[in-house]
Amino acid sequence: MPSGPVRALLAVEPGVEAEHVQASLPSDADFSVVGMVNGAEDALHWLRDTQADMLLVACAGYSDRALLLLDAVSRQNPDLSIVVLGQGSPNGFLRRAFEAGADDIIMLPATRDQVRFELQKLLARKQGAETPSSPDNSHLVCVLGPKGGTGKTLTATNLAVAFAQRGSRVALIDLDLQFGDVALCLGLPPEKTVYDLAQSPGALDYDKLDAFLATHSAGVRTLIAPRRPDQASAVGAELLREVYSILRTRFDWVIIDTPPGFTAEVITSIDSSTDIVMVGMLDSLSLKNTKLGLETLELMKYDPERIYLLLNRAHSRVGISQSDVEAVLGRTPDVFIPSDREIPRTVNEGIPIVIARPQSEPAEAFRRLADLLGGPVSEEVVLAETANGGSRRRIFGRKG
Ligand SMILES: Nc1ncnc2c1ncn2[C@@H]1O[C@H](COP(=O)(O)OP(=O)(O)OP(=O)(O)O)[C@@H](O)[C@H]1O
Ligand SMILES: [Mg+2]
Repeated sequence: MPSGPVRALLAVEPGVEAEHVQASLPSDADFSVVGMVNGAEDALHWLRDTQADMLLVACAGYSDRALLLLDAVSRQNPDLSIVVLGQGSPNGFLRRAFEAGADDIIMLPATRDQVRFELQKLLARKQGAETPSSPDNSHLVCVLGPKGGTGKTLTATNLAVAFAQRGSRVALIDLDLQFGDVALCLGLPPEKTVYDLAQSPGALDYDKLDAFLATHSAGVRTLIAPRRPDQASAVGAELLREVYSILRTRFDWVIIDTPPGFTAEVITSIDSSTDIVMVGMLDSLSLKNTKLGLETLELMKYDPERIYLLLNRAHSRVGISQSDVEAVLGRTPDVFIPSDREIPRTVNEGIPIVIARPQSEPAEAFRRLADLLGGPVSEEVVLAETANGGSRRRIFGRKG
């Protein structure tokens, strides 16, 4: 983070009124627009000759030229913070903008205060990303469910994104080594997987691990499951333990999606975890298995205070009441996720429901789960969201 005022270059794409954009930018001693150029090419030339801390690219709608600029600038100037100021930009463009190298996207119109707040947070986050965190402040959350298809992957992916939306540094690991589908649920191409990591020679450190983590547009860094089931056996407990301990020095939250049951990898992960989210469903077979899962954790002497119980597909029409649930499980679930036909749709689209339908009941429940695990979201994030008209229009950056 620069010690003096932030020096920003503003690149204005065709179709955008420069005065409108300038009227949204902070005007104080901590922030100055040191140059304004029209379009991508001029920005590249300008940056070759002049120093800046931040590039602001203002564009309207889908702009291939802006994407090319983002790509070229992020390669040439890896330390530069790049922010897209979007006006009516479609979703496909926002995603491509992150892929091309944008650290953050701020949707206009927005007030000066909102924009200042977002820029300050971006700079703080970039600074934080370079600072190793203490493993003592980092949590490793295992998402468990003894039975298949209860909603573990749904929970792990949405919880990871909910934490990233609060500004935390989040890593997500797909431990379903045979049939992992985290990459599909997040719309990530499985370019590098944990199998490739296991196969790569040399000692493991963060720089090496970093090269195997895919980056979701919400900022969640993801270790993807092997492409084929036969590759699963290459991933051993020792590697996992090492991966977990390295990730905990860099991320506030490490979330692990697991396969059904207590496999050897799952037990290793439980041993390394600070918290567990047990995912059950509202039917009698699933409840029985959830109870067995809770009893197994008790046998493993896992602190019950660190176990959160999530009841998925919770609605009243299945003939099982809340008191039946409590009688079977011996405790009250902490979070209820209703059945919602938007959920399979968001899974198919590869966009978690906390992003695709932030106001929906399931999205709210996943954010509540994040609150339970991490404490309520800080007041400043709530203020930013309220200032955004209650909707989460802003999409968080991809780095850290
Ligand atoms: N509350 C819900 N409402 C509607 N559909 C849901 C709900 N929860 C889960 N589903 C659907 O159920 C399917 C299984 O969910 P998910 O993949 O998260 O389960 P899982 O426990 O990870 O399964 P597996 O054990 O096979 O890994 C998904 O297609 C998802 O869309
Ligand atoms: Mg799953």
